[in-house]
Amino acid sequence: MSHSPLPRANPRATPPIVRGLRCAACGEFVGVDAALSWRCPNARGDDRHHVLLIESDVAPLRRTKHANPFIAFRRYLAWDAFVHAHGMDETTRDALISELDARIATVAGTGFVFTPFARADALSTALGFSESGGVWVKDETHNVAGSQKSRHLFTELLHLVAVERLGLAPWPIGNRPPLAIASCGNAAFAASTLARAVDWNIQVFVPEWADEQLVTRLRTLGADVQHCPRKSSDPAGDPCVFRFRESVAAGAVPFGVQGPENAWCLDGGRTIGWEMAYVAEHMEPPLIARLFVQTGGGAFAACLAEGFHAGGTRAALHAVQAEGCAPLSRAWNESTSFATMSAAAAHWDACMQPWPDKPTSFADGILDDETYDWVSVCRAMRTSGGHPVVAPEQRVREAYELAHRTTTIDVSPTGAAGLAGLLTMRDRVGDDERVAVVFSGIRRETPKP
Ligand SMILES: Cc1ncc(COP(=O)(O)O)c(C=O)c1O
Ligand SMILES: [Zn+2]
Repeated sequence: MSHSPLPRANPRATPPIVRGLRCAACGEFVGVDAALSWRCPNARGDDRHHVLLIESDVAPLRRTKHANPFIAFRRYLAWDAFVHAHGMDETTRDALISELDARIATVAGTGFVFTPFARADALSTALGFSESGGVWVKDETHNVAGSQKSRHLFTELLHLVAVERLGLAPWPIGNRPPLAIASCGNAAFAASTLARAVDWNIQVFVPEWADEQLVTRLRTLGADVQHCPRKSSDPAGDPCVFRFRESVAAGAVPFGVQGPENAWCLDGGRTIGWEMAYVAEHMEPPLIARLFVQTGGGAFAACLAEGFHAGGTRAALHAVQAEGCAPLSRAWNESTSFATMSAAAAHWDACMQPWPDKPTSFADGILDDETYDWVSVCRAMRTSGGHPVVAPEQRVREAYELAHRTTTIDVSPTGAAGLAGLLTMRDRVGDDERVAVVFSGIRRETPKP
């Protein structure tokens, strides 16, 4: 029996859209009411070849007037269905989002708002597009913590706080398990910012060579930063990930941006695509025909495409990787021998293999040796008629330079890497076509040449 003090949901109010989560690899279904449903129940031990994906039908895409995208699009969130299932009423849901958002704003200097999305005229001209075609840029550099990562993490945080407020938390009051993330970039910074906002301890596992400025920034936010040298007993792979998983096995909450580690990052990440789709839906034709998205672990491309396609247009997704780390391309090619992506996902090892060499690129935020969310990214490319693009390193550098020359957005090399995909494919894109990119992260220091 529930002793929740929260107001009960009105059963006649608009029902939520999300039905539940289903594992792309084994088909297991997890009800949306399940608390702390980070991973597929069949993913045991270190097995990360499962990923829970959100099942829902968003169309038609509508928003409320609220300035916060998590409130404006709340009814499409899996989180909304989760708290609805536990009887939280709609006013309380909005109030909880607003409360956490206000706390985040005190740490980050901004809460969540719709970020700009508009045609970049000088960039479009420089690339030879006609007046009716061109490049639309989503500017994410002033989003919470300077990148899109906080959008993914916010639904993990909402889930955790709701679990506590609803009396569903398995931990005793005042004895929260720590959050944990393996990252040395924007995701670590966003996770530490959100954790700080709610005074929740967070462990950040970083490589030995992690940037000192970043480590200082994380420690200033109160994060417990742990350097992870390789242990002689470690198998091949990233020691930060091993230490992160050990911590999660010991009770920490996975608080990162990889679907197989925590499916709830795939919920809020979609807000970026919904925002873009909402603008695109109200544009005079022609429609935006392609999305070029820089891809590391893949959660970003997966969510952006799912969100954008909810608007009803099937813009072709091009997941962009740099030639110095492009594991998705092989997975894509292998997956084409399977009739469906579910069948491909069941043969995870045959498709997605970690990049065999030391990953390198000027776009150093997309050097994940594995595209963890490859199944959703490939599915979105399949259904939209897209395909991956491997950008030569020269194009990655040109994209950064071009972004700075033709726009006023202070984007990082990683944040501009989707544009490198467009440069690589420019001769196959018509001058009258409309395409979109996301400048996803702010430049924090002058990148080394
Ligand atoms: C600014 C920026 N853009 C894009 C990405 C890629 O996101 P994902 O790893 O989800 O593919 C990252 C990842 O670190 C990033 O920092
Ligand atoms: Zn599974």
